[in-house]
Amino acid sequence: MTTPGDDRPTEGTRLQDGAEVGAVIVSEADLQRRITELGAAITADYAGRPPLLVGVLKGAFMFMSDLSRAIALPSEVDFMAVSSYGSATRTSGVVRIVKDLDVDLVDRHVLVVEDIVDSGLTLSYLQRYLLARQPASLEVCALLVKEGQQRTAVDLRYVGFTIPADFVIGYGLDVAERYRNLPAIHDYLGPKP
Ligand code: IMP
Ligand code: MG
Repeated sequence: MTTPGDDRPTEGTRLQDGAEVGAVIVSEADLQRRITELGAAITADYAGRPPLLVGVLKGAFMFMSDLSRAIALPSEVDFMAVSSYGSATRTSGVVRIVKDLDVDLVDRHVLVVEDIVDSGLTLSYLQRYLLARQPASLEVCALLVKEGQQRTAVDLRYVGFTIPADFVIGYGLDVAERYRNLPAIHDYLGPKP
């Protein structure tokens, strides 16, 4: 018996092109458990200095949604959208700001919420860009970090999971704008765009 409106796929039967959706790398339960822990750590660390959560669109939208609810503090959220020049699966490190922040960062405790750190070039560009706006503090919470891929030193205060260097999809992460709606992180088996 299924609940009306509940058409979420079970393992092996995915919404779109199941052949491209590989093994679960981080399950829905593990994501939620870890995000609860991250939220508790952030809540303790930022007591008395409410954070401004800055989500990096589009990949971080789902993580931001869950993380913000796991932080028991009077926080604010804002979003930036960036796009990196270069191929779809490898960043060039040259970042274009597609949507800038709406709020002033001066004297704010800014916590950047990122989906995944691969080469680290996107984040290192963003850190320089945001530091120029004179926040009181600037830290990063990245859900995923690809092991051994960083080409630049990035200071990550909070990390959800370190994963192997393969391309992944789901929970906000896409390939050519698809698969963001999968509730877990999966290996991507399709052709690299
Ligand atoms: P970096 O600049 O190489 O660290 O790349 C970071 C950005 O590339 C992330 O914010 C994602 O938008 C994208 N990206 C990197 N790896 C993956 C992946 O495995 N799946 C989906 N997007 C990815
Ligand atoms: Mg991203």
